[in-house]
Parts: sequence; structure tokens; C-alpha cells
Amino acid sequence: MLRTAFFTLLLLIHCLVLRVAPASSSSEEDDGSSEQEHAGHKKSHSHHWGYTDQHTWGSVFTDCNGKSQSPIDINTKNAIYDSKLPSIALEGYDLTDQPALTLLNNGHTLQLMLPPSMRIVSGFDRVYYAAQLHFHWGTVEEPGSEHTIDNVHFPAEIHVVHYNSKYANISEAANKPDGLAVLGAFIGIGLQENENYERILSALTDVSVEETKTEIPGFNARHLLPNSLERFYRYTGSLTTPPCFQSVNWTMFNDTITVSRRQLAALEDTLKMEQNQLLRKNFRAPQLLHGRYVVSSFSESPNQQTPKIVPLTETDPSTRVRASTGGLGEKQRGDILAIAFGGLFAVTLLAFSMYAFQQRKKYSKFKKDARQNVIYKPASKEEA
Ligand SMILES: *[C@@H]1O[C@H](CO)[C@@H](O)[C@H](O)[C@H]1NC(C)=O
Ligand SMILES: *[C@@H]1O[C@H](CO)[C@@H](O)[C@H](O)[C@H]1NC(C)=O
Ligand SMILES: *[C@@H]1O[C@H](CO)[C@@H](O)[C@H](O)[C@H]1NC(C)=O
Ligand SMILES: [Zn+2]
Repeated sequence: MLRTAFFTLLLLIHCLVLRVAPASSSSEEDDGSSEQEHAGHKKSHSHHWGYTDQHTWGSVFTDCNGKSQSPIDINTKNAIYDSKLPSIALEGYDLTDQPALTLLNNGHTLQLMLPPSMRIVSGFDRVYYAAQLHFHWGTVEEPGSEHTIDNVHFPAEIHVVHYNSKYANISEAANKPDGLAVLGAFIGIGLQENENYERILSALTDVSVEETKTEIPGFNARHLLPNSLERFYRYTGSLTTPPCFQSVNWTMFNDTITVSRRQLAALEDTLKMEQNQLLRKNFRAPQLLHGRYVVSSFSESPNQQTPKIVPLTETDPSTRVRASTGGLGEKQRGDILAIAFGGLFAVTLLAFSMYAFQQRKKYSKFKKDARQNVIYKPASKEEA
């Protein structure tokens, strides 16, 4: 009967494990995301929106309810390879230290203003001029990229916003179907300090207060983007912040950027928004595709298999990859399984010890009774 109890216990644990896993995965927050493109100079007046109430954006900014919204989850298996996608060529990105660039904390993001001499000269039907770049991030616990790759967030994301040269300026272009082209890239954690990002991040403390700005020397902004621009995803979407205009031809690079742990922490822990709250988790939740598809400029995995992301280990606090919409990250799922199996093992061990102890007691009792020459006899009869 002990054995029966033991198996019942095993079964019970199994049921618990099976129940716990799906239950917690469906309760995973898909909230706390958001951000925007800051297409133009939508400035202080658009401060009545925030990331914690992003589900209400649509009541004021109706485009936010549209069917071509950003960001999205990029399902790599569903991406359609398009051999005809023109590759992207940039010009004028190699700025010199003069003139200086304006860096600002607008209460929603950290934004660097860019001159129109920076431009995308091929890759689209027209030349697109740069206007600004900005970032989206989370916290140490919660990676904050806007786009996700197979439902996984990266720690942060950079957006370089360009507008179609056929329009006079970005505010005119911002609500036109062919108005904007955003180049986006994922930011992960690497071992090295990223010197190019440091040109921006070293000025963070100068703009820690909302609605403040500073000037930083110009530098080669090409180095803020990944080394390779060859492999990218393309889809039609929107600004990821109110007013959510559906005017963005999106490019998300497959190659990623890395910054050091310290640099990412600086981004996450320095800027303040209204009421002196830390400005973080400025990412919008992934939006539905509504029949859109994602095309890719590549079909194969890259040849050089040198992952630039620091490998995540069990004790690594940078377990900065998490499932986004309704689903635990691999890591969390792994943890639950590990705990479950650990528990299972412990209980099994306990049950077995109890069983063995019982047997031994019986045996010693038997030995006492028989006094001598007792050969151990398996207690097979017990359970019959
Ligand atoms: C986005 O750019 C691609 C490449 O030039 C082009 O084929 C596509 O029509 C553009 N999409 C929109 C919505 O402008
Ligand atoms: C943008 O261009 C439009 C049309 O030429 C003009 O009316 C508007 O003042 C410009 N806005 C800015 C901020 O330059
Ligand atoms: C890059 O592409 C590979 C191959 O499709 C994919 O496994 C990987 O998740 C992609 N990473 C990013 C950041 O797009
Ligand atoms: Zn953005």
C-alpha cells in the first residue's frame, strides 16, 4: 500500500505540473508595452497618453485602432523570402563632430535629432531623409524591445525615422501612406562597451529631467545600426505611439547590436518622466497582423555563427529575453520544468526513504523475533 501511495503521489505531482504550466503562461502579462515614433515634433501636448494605458490610445487617437498597426511579432517561419527586395544604402550618416546634435528626453523616449543630409538613397522608391532616432527599452527584469522575434523580446530597440523626400518635412509626411521609413534594430547585451552608443548614453544624465535637451558632438551614426544591413524584415505598419499613423514602411534588421550591461542599465535607470517617475518600459504591445505579411530579404541562416549576445546562464541576471504575448519565455518554462522535476525527484526520494525505512523497521523487528539466521526476505507479500 505504500507503493500505491507512492504512485498516487507521482500522479498527483504530474497533474500539478501539467496544470501549472499552461495556467501561468496564459496569465503572462502582455501589457506594459508601448512607444511611438515621435514622427515629427509632436511634443509636449501629446503628453496625455502613457504606456500603462495603451489600450485606451484608440479612444483619442482613432488610428491606433487601425488594422496596420506596429509593432508586431515577427514570426520567422511565416516571413516570406522576397529575392527582389532592394538592399538598403545609406548616405550622409558619417557626421562629423560639428554641427552638434540635439538630444532630448521628451517624456516618452530618448531622442536624437538628425539632419536631412542623412538619408536612405536606395531600398525604397524614393530617397528618405532622416529626422530623428530614438529608443525603446524595459527594465532589468523585463526586456523592452517593441518588435518581437518569435514572441521573444530583446532588451531594447533603436528606431531611425526617415521621411519621404517628396514631402516638405516630417510633419507633412507623417500621415501619408508612403510618408515614413523606419530602420529598426534589436539591442542585446554584449561583453564590450559599445563606444558608438556611449556617445549618446554618456549624455543621459544631462537630460534626466523630462522635456530637457542637450547638445552632443556629431558622430558616425552608421555605427548605431548593425554591421550588416543585408538581412532584414519588411512590413507595412504605423507609428508605435499616438497618433499611430499608418504611414511607416518598416525595416527590422536581422543582425543585432550589443551594448554592455552597464550601458543598458544606464538607459533603463536614468531618465525621468512625469511625476518624477523613471522613464522605462516605453514599448507598445505587439499588434495584430490583420492579414498583413512580413517579407524578408534573406532565406538562409547567416553563415558566421558567432552569436553577439552573451550566452544566458541560469544565474545570469540578464535573462533578458522573455515571451511577449501569452507565453512564458523558454527560460521561465525551463525554470518551471526544473522546479517541477526537482520537486518530483525530492518527493520520490522521500517516498522511497519512507518505504525503505518502513521495510527496515519491519525487517529489524523480524530479526528480533527470529533472533538468528534470518535471511533478508523481500517484502513482496506486503503489497499483494
Ligand atoms: C515599402 O518599400 C518597398 C520597397 O521599396 C515597396 O515595395 C513597398 O511598396 C513600400 N510599401 C509602402 C506601403 O510604401
Ligand atoms: C512643413 O511643411 C508644410 C508644407 O510646406 C508647412 O506648412 C509647415 O509649416 C512645415 N512644418 C514645419 C514644422 O516646418
Ligand atoms: C535572424 O534570422 C534567423 C534565421 O531566420 C532567426 O533564427 C533569428 O531569430 C533572426 N534574429 C533576428 C533578431 O531577427
Ligand atoms: Zn519607436
